[in-house]
Amino acid sequence: MAAGCDTPKGGDPAPDPATERLRFPHDFGWGAATSAYQIEGAAKEDGRGESVWDTFSHTPGRTHNGDTGDVAADHYHRWADDLDLMRDLGLRSYRFSVSWPRIQADGTGKPNQRGLDFYKRLVDGLHERGIAPMVTLFHWDLPQALQDEGGWENRDTAHRFADYADAVFRGIGDQVPVWLTINEPKTVVQNGYLWGHHAPGRQDADAAYLVAHHLQLAHGLAVRALRATGYDTRIGPALNLHPCYPADDSPAAASAATLHDGYENRLYLDSILTGAYPADVLADLGPDSRMVRGIHDGDLGIISSPVDLLAVQYYTPLYLTGNGNTVTRWPTSEADWQQIYPQGMYDTLTRVTRDYGPIPITVTENGLPCPDTLGPDGTVDDAGRIAFLRDHFTAAHRAIADGVPLESYHVWSLLDNFEWAEGYDQRWGLVYVDYPTQRRVLKRSAHWYRQVIRDNGL
Ligand code: NOJ
Repeated sequence: MAAGCDTPKGGDPAPDPATERLRFPHDFGWGAATSAYQIEGAAKEDGRGESVWDTFSHTPGRTHNGDTGDVAADHYHRWADDLDLMRDLGLRSYRFSVSWPRIQADGTGKPNQRGLDFYKRLVDGLHERGIAPMVTLFHWDLPQALQDEGGWENRDTAHRFADYADAVFRGIGDQVPVWLTINEPKTVVQNGYLWGHHAPGRQDADAAYLVAHHLQLAHGLAVRALRATGYDTRIGPALNLHPCYPADDSPAAASAATLHDGYENRLYLDSILTGAYPADVLADLGPDSRMVRGIHDGDLGIISSPVDLLAVQYYTPLYLTGNGNTVTRWPTSEADWQQIYPQGMYDTLTRVTRDYGPIPITVTENGLPCPDTLGPDGTVDDAGRIAFLRDHFTAAHRAIADGVPLESYHVWSLLDNFEWAEGYDQRWGLVYVDYPTQRRVLKRSAHWYRQVIRDNGL
């Protein structure tokens, strides 16, 4: 069994005296997160177009078992029950994403009203249940038609994104207190363009960093589009940050960790929050790289348009050797890239506040995949997930105590869902989805989380 999930069964994990009676700030936004392609299904309904993930998942050999998001957790049809579930859990915030190809089937033009209506119902339903919506504009499902025109390698895609964002803002903008622009741009860059195990499946480093720049540009243009509406709602980027530590005491490992931090974190943070790309990364890419050549005058001004908050997603640390390789220091989860290291949450949150000032922070993702099974008594015993969340909540609490303006925390994920290239094999939910019947079953972690929310702490 994967590490982190093998806490002995029976009884909640023993209370650790150090974590007892931890109270979070009043009104702390306890939440959970999902994304459109991972849960909605209904891939051909109400005028939805195709996205790069439809293409990718339907290409033989790309996903585990050939799994696709065609049906997923069928949330498109079960949204009302899912909202009731969230209310039962006591969630105060729910983060989900809008599917671009539901709003613009081909990525351009007049918005599809049926697509907008779905999200309108969702947002209204959340408000009726006292849950604050937090909406991501782009969680990787680029309309395939735009990919056919070059996708994120094409600068025009950033402008298409701004038009799409404007259409979504004009549809539901004033009802959404917090908007997030682009989910984990780095994952698109790395998984989609460096390593190729995510859509669109490219392996081209030069293209990858041009894509990074265009994603950053798209982010800035969307921020400006929201401001242009005059709506009094907040917006920020959703960045997955990886603390980068030297694997040993050598100076070579220290400098490898610093440069790696540039590619993993500062590339995204600095451009948005300081208006400049990190010099060490630009130098490493070189003046002839497509990214460096692709930066136009004025781009950094757009990218650094003031944001209201920063969304942080933390899953794992990275350890760098002197020759720039990564090594594993802690037990990994079912996701082989994830080392379980709660201190990394503390280090990440405090680092952002230290280096970029007191910008409000929300944790928009953190979680653990476990080999969950439905027991004969109808329960799902995921004690390991409880221990994981307890340790990471504790680290976040320490960061708050040390001055980090953390306002909310969203567990990844509300429901088991389509975990991209891993298909349905990895279960990340607080709620178990029995895919053949689509029945939802609260895992033990969900019951535990409900109590955390009630107590506003641990
Ligand atoms: C980050 C991504 O935003 C989300 O889509 C994914 O499922 C989780 N990490 C877990 O890998």
